[in-house]
Amino acid sequence: MAQANIGVVGLAVMGSNLARNLASREGNTVAVYNRTWARTETLIDEHPEAGFIPAKTIQEFADSLAKPRTAIIMVQAGKGTDAVIDELVAVFEPGDIIVDGGNALFTDTIRREAAVRETGINFVGAGISGGEEGALNGPSIMPGGSAEAWQTLGPILKSIAAVAEGEPCVTHVGTDGAGHFVKMIHNGIEYADMQLIAEAYDLIRRGTGKSPAEIADIFAEWNKGELESYLIEITAEVLKQVDAETGKPLVDVILDQAGSKGTGVWTVQTSLDLGIPVSGIAEAVFARSLSSKPAQRAAASSLPGPSEDAFKPADPEAFIEGVRLALYASKVIAYSQGFDAIVAGAEQYGWDIKKGDIAKIWRGGCIIRARFLNRITEAYAENPGLVALVTAPFFVDVMAKAQTAWRNVVADAAHAGIPAPAFSSSLAYYDGLRADRLPAALVQGQRDFFGAHTYKRVDKEGTFHTLWSGDRSEIESEGSSH
Ligand SMILES: NC(=O)c1ccc[n+]([C@@H]2O[C@H](COP(=O)([O-])OP(=O)(O)OC[C@H]3O[C@@H](n4cnc5c(N)ncnc54)[C@H](OP(=O)(O)O)[C@@H]3O)[C@@H](O)[C@H]2O)c1
Repeated sequence: MAQANIGVVGLAVMGSNLARNLASREGNTVAVYNRTWARTETLIDEHPEAGFIPAKTIQEFADSLAKPRTAIIMVQAGKGTDAVIDELVAVFEPGDIIVDGGNALFTDTIRREAAVRETGINFVGAGISGGEEGALNGPSIMPGGSAEAWQTLGPILKSIAAVAEGEPCVTHVGTDGAGHFVKMIHNGIEYADMQLIAEAYDLIRRGTGKSPAEIADIFAEWNKGELESYLIEITAEVLKQVDAETGKPLVDVILDQAGSKGTGVWTVQTSLDLGIPVSGIAEAVFARSLSSKPAQRAAASSLPGPSEDAFKPADPEAFIEGVRLALYASKVIAYSQGFDAIVAGAEQYGWDIKKGDIAKIWRGGCIIRARFLNRITEAYAENPGLVALVTAPFFVDVMAKAQTAWRNVVADAAHAGIPAPAFSSSLAYYDGLRADRLPAALVQGQRDFFGAHTYKRVDKEGTFHTLWSGDRSEIESEGSSH
């Protein structure tokens, strides 16, 4: 009976594409199961070449898998995943492996891993990026789970992952929820990158009056240089698209309210808990929220702003180059912040995450794949203890070349009344990070004034409090400032 070396549960678009990808690789025989049989039937009818072993029941599915049984779940995240895990645990045996390839919240993965481990079965939360196309042709895969599970799973995942510069885009990220954590941060960076690109487009369009098709050409050109990436490439495609019905640029007939599925929010919430300022990602999430408030936007549409012609760049080509540099610099900040969150998560949850390897597996298959990820890998290879990615020599150089243009673009945007929240908050973060002194000293003074929260001094050890409502002398305080 047992003929398949790998199985897939959940055969909607992601699961069926992943199953087809697995089946197309040498040495794999793939068992498939879906709660609703009709979906399984459609898949096997449409893809006889895959040689799938279909199962009508979860027991049949388990019986069709060689031991240790390995199954990848690709169902709706949340309750669907829990339901399928329960079913699999009932029919699997110790040593078998359950992989959740959905977009689970990493804390759910930590919980599930601990519960499944009790049964002797391995549970691996694996982040899979690349959408439908990636699932079919080669995604970037971020598996967590035990080293034991990785022994069996590694070769299978390597066989289906995207390949970048000869290396498969998959690595064992760390234990339990590490894979889903890193996938979450990946999605957060994706949010920031998309928002930055959208701001660049808006600034060029409103600043120079160029058409979407003309801006598409600019992005296509940018894609030949240091900004080369999947998101820049698809931006050019989207901007070029003409609506068949109206003959207008498609981007002009799409309602300007951006949706989301929640992974950006998770990234920001998690980073807030970890105390990591992921401001670029947060601004991207907020920008989507703001766009989706039609009543507020309508009510505010008559609020005063600069006149339409307040901003006309004297040299449009120089302005466009400035926007390119601002985009590059802001993007470096978004990645730098994302890696800060990975470092903090690894510390909090006890994961040994190799940052350079993460940048490597993001070079292919995933939505944020980009040429400059090689530079990130190199930066961490040169200095594994790098405290902030933006301080690596290569990126210092990027900032040196970009910072004046970046400032000008942010100032232009403010003068023109064009919202550029991700550009400007990334710049503020950059300036905050490099400042010798921050007004945080004043904030500590205020906190001490109203809440006796105490403060430390620059010139001596200890924790201090000023007797604000007394004679305003300073006393040394017990305990540490907080
Ligand atoms: N779409 C993407 O681009 C993308 C990218 C990366 C990751 N993901 C993640 O991949 C996973 C699958 O995504 P998808 O878009 O292919 O499918 P989906 O629409 O998220 O989920 C549909 C699948 O889940 C199954 N399902 C739902 N509740 C279930 C339950 N209680 N018990 C058993 N099966 C249940 C459905 O079975 P029935 O046929 O019986 O209803 C169907 O196979 C999700 O976690 C998603 O977040 C998606």
